[in-house]
Amino acid sequence: MTNETSRTWWQQEIFYQIYPASFKDSNNDGIGDLPGITAELPKLKELGITTIWLSPVYKSPMVDNGYDIADYQAIDPRFGTMADFDQLMTTAKDLGIKVVMDLVVNHTSDQHRWFQAALKDPASPYRDFYIFRQGHDGQPPNNWRSNFGAGSSWTAVPGEPNTYYHHVFSPQQPDLNWENPKLRQAIYSMINWWLAKGLAGFRVDAITFIKKDQDFASITPDGSDGLGKVKRKTENRPGLDQFLKELNAATFKPANAVTIGEASGVAYDQLGDFIGEKGYFSMIFDFHYADIDVASGSEWFKQTNWTPKMLGEAIAKSQLAIQKVGWGANFLENHDQPRSLSKYIREPQYRNAIGAKALALLYFGLRGCPFIYQGQELGMVNAVRTNIDQFNDLSAHDNYRRALAEGYSEDVALTCVNRRSRDNARTPYPWDDSQNGGFNAGHEPWLPLAKQAAGVNWQAEHDDPNSVWTFYQTLCRLRNASPLRADLIEGDFAPLDAHNDNVIAYARGQHVQIFVNLSSKPAVVDLPAGHVWLNNYPDVGTSIQPYQAILIEVK
Ligand code: NOJ
Ligand code: CA
Repeated sequence: MTNETSRTWWQQEIFYQIYPASFKDSNNDGIGDLPGITAELPKLKELGITTIWLSPVYKSPMVDNGYDIADYQAIDPRFGTMADFDQLMTTAKDLGIKVVMDLVVNHTSDQHRWFQAALKDPASPYRDFYIFRQGHDGQPPNNWRSNFGAGSSWTAVPGEPNTYYHHVFSPQQPDLNWENPKLRQAIYSMINWWLAKGLAGFRVDAITFIKKDQDFASITPDGSDGLGKVKRKTENRPGLDQFLKELNAATFKPANAVTIGEASGVAYDQLGDFIGEKGYFSMIFDFHYADIDVASGSEWFKQTNWTPKMLGEAIAKSQLAIQKVGWGANFLENHDQPRSLSKYIREPQYRNAIGAKALALLYFGLRGCPFIYQGQELGMVNAVRTNIDQFNDLSAHDNYRRALAEGYSEDVALTCVNRRSRDNARTPYPWDDSQNGGFNAGHEPWLPLAKQAAGVNWQAEHDDPNSVWTFYQTLCRLRNASPLRADLIEGDFAPLDAHNDNVIAYARGQHVQIFVNLSSKPAVVDLPAGHVWLNNYPDVGTSIQPYQAILIEVK
């Protein structure tokens, strides 16, 4: 890259997110593990990714599948040992793959020794590591509704009448009190301990929630339960900047680490503070177009009627806002999102290799770092579950209850949960067509595999030059090493008008132009002359076929 600076090494990376419980189960106990990941790293290298992001592998009771941490400096035995982790680091290094871990510091598990000490003794110094308040007349301190649990964001402390602790997420995820400098120092030394192990950086969980409005005042209700969304008083609130500046200066910045903030609630005109030259993070995830199908990421029963045109506009708006000040983290899927094929391709008959490649090109060419979520590169689709009891994730159950409470029928509630459940992306990875998809040697997996079309597995796709996996490999190659590399990494993003509402088109730099028909209707589009590097159909005709996607190098 020209103009390479130490600040920007990470702009060249291609990230691959691993959901450890579901990647590869090496000891056949039903749960994916670190040795499993280590063994499969060469296959990720072959795909062409350069950095892996591990969802949490820390010690945890797994109420929220690891996003409830009981010990920041220990590996959960389900996933292996610290020696297994160190081995993963060594193998990754040998392969030239960098490692990023999840950093979950808005809350811990209620099993963390800090919280246990705080509960045991109100005079403990750990009491002030968390947020304890008195209730009023047998009611919680205020009417905030937690993100999880479909109820109050306060839980009564057992054995202490009228005392409550706060949690933005589930009751088993008590919030840390960032107002306390001792807590902040403890977090910073933990982060630096991990960085010293050679991590390239962190994906930073729920980080815009660490500052709570200190008035802890009730708000106007926004549901029939008389409660209001907790995020209105806890997400990206005034004063957050001081915490984030200090966090960055004490940890990430001196290590020249890459950080990807899960920073919901940040308006486009604030991006400069978050990802600008002096921003708190290298990149943040923008959820605007990931959540285009729902009115809010946490209320799945409020569906929208989005169109390809709206999606194209949302992407362009996001890209242009980010381009003004910094760098983007582009993704279609993660462990909280449904499978993109099921979400963005409205006609089931195109939820196949054609549709998957169209989506791949649509986002992979954008300005910023591409993130691939495990299984996305195979073109996996959502699972179909026929009863709410078949869902594992706590938020599936919350959403179901909330939908019923808001007057939706059981059928509609189930349809919405099926469409949006986080379990969709969390099913075991299909390596081949053997029992349990080669995820393990036959033990029942912690979450059943999702049914996929024949041939949607790593082995079949690896051996097929026309597979989705091979298409992703080509995308990685074009970005890592090809004549298009400079434009694909550094080139400015510019929306193109294809004069068709179903076609999303954009340019990168001087030479790259991308056209994607996001509909089942052929579209007549005036394509530029040039070399076609990528195409999910055998040829380019006078009109663009349903879900056809083309990358053209214009001279
Ligand atoms: C965001 C994570 O991605 C999600 O999986 C988790 O449940 C919440 N933060 C709480 O940590
Ligand atoms: Ca295992």
